[in-house]
Amino acid sequence: TTVEWEAESYDMGGHDTYMHKEIHEQADAVDRALRGRIDDRFSTVHLGGLNLDARDARAVRRVKILGCGTSYHAGQIGAQMIEELARIPSDAEPASEFRYRNPVVDPDTLYIAVSQSGETYDVLAAVQELKRKGARVLGLVNVVGSAIARETDGGIYVHAGPEVCVVSTKCFTNMVVSFGLLALHLGRIRDLSVADGKRIIEGLRKLPAQISEILANEAEIEKLAGEYADAKSMMFIGRVRGYPVAREASLKLKEVSYIHAEAYPASELKHGPLALIEPAMPTVAIVPDDELLEKNRAALEEIKARSGRILAVAHQVQEKADHTIVVPKNEDELDPILMGIPLQLLAYYTAKAMGRDIDKPRNLAKSVTVE
Ligand code: AGP
Repeated sequence: TTVEWEAESYDMGGHDTYMHKEIHEQADAVDRALRGRIDDRFSTVHLGGLNLDARDARAVRRVKILGCGTSYHAGQIGAQMIEELARIPSDAEPASEFRYRNPVVDPDTLYIAVSQSGETYDVLAAVQELKRKGARVLGLVNVVGSAIARETDGGIYVHAGPEVCVVSTKCFTNMVVSFGLLALHLGRIRDLSVADGKRIIEGLRKLPAQISEILANEAEIEKLAGEYADAKSMMFIGRVRGYPVAREASLKLKEVSYIHAEAYPASELKHGPLALIEPAMPTVAIVPDDELLEKNRAALEEIKARSGRILAVAHQVQEKADHTIVVPKNEDELDPILMGIPLQLLAYYTAKAMGRDIDKPRNLAKSVTVE
């Protein structure tokens, strides 16, 4: 069950929906998440409310991230960032699953609860169960003073500002940026070099301008939405860093347009989903310019060979794709922050073309505060 959506009275500022407004607020929101936190002297970041000193941070042997829906997807990207930059084994799991499986609670694991509202019942219940068993739990939360923010031992506010649309956009982006900050912080306490710390800081600083660059391309994405709005079903694929981006983009499209969408790791296509590929089932492929570029290109070839239509989100035009949305390149570890943004717009314009109730999709609520 869900609770009723509550309209908050904050100005739409000339946008037709909160979703559109919130997508366009992302450059400012990311800027807010970075403000006052970067420490150039030590090539790291300060996270005031973390309550985790250097000794504690070095003692962490695993990171487990818990969230639901979009926040879980942000956690999947976060786990990869922490593993890459801090070299701590990390993973994310839906809080709603974790709390029902009598999990082994390990004192050397750092648990992180991620939530926009800070009130999602499944996440809160997981936090309470972990605390009861003596675990250390941090929060990565948007709403200040919310239940999850209060119940956790410390954490990071993501500073996205109020998010009204049921469909989360700017908060997702700020969550992923906040995970980037946490990964850098943990990395620099452990084995991440000064040079790599600098490289990530430079990447973080570039984000707001790069987001504005993507949003300036809106007209092109609106046109593309028209091309794909006739699809009954869409496939989203990505590999490693690109896979959670594909999952989140698929959820966005489902929630707001009600078009059926599947997300798969590109590497899994040949193990079954390839059977679905035909002209009526377009594929959205996340193709970053990283060490997996050639592998991703091979997946595009497999799809093309089966007459599938392809829309790629990439750093360079993909020859095998019917259309490519080119996004600016950042550091490999930070690319996932940018690659989902055009697909938020794709979901928005598809839903708009279909006359959907964009800010309040059927059957959904902004905060799910009951079981
Ligand atoms: C996002 O578009 C969804 N409406 C939904 O998946 C949401 O992310 C989920 O319910 C978790 O909410 P929270 O971040 O407030 O905990």
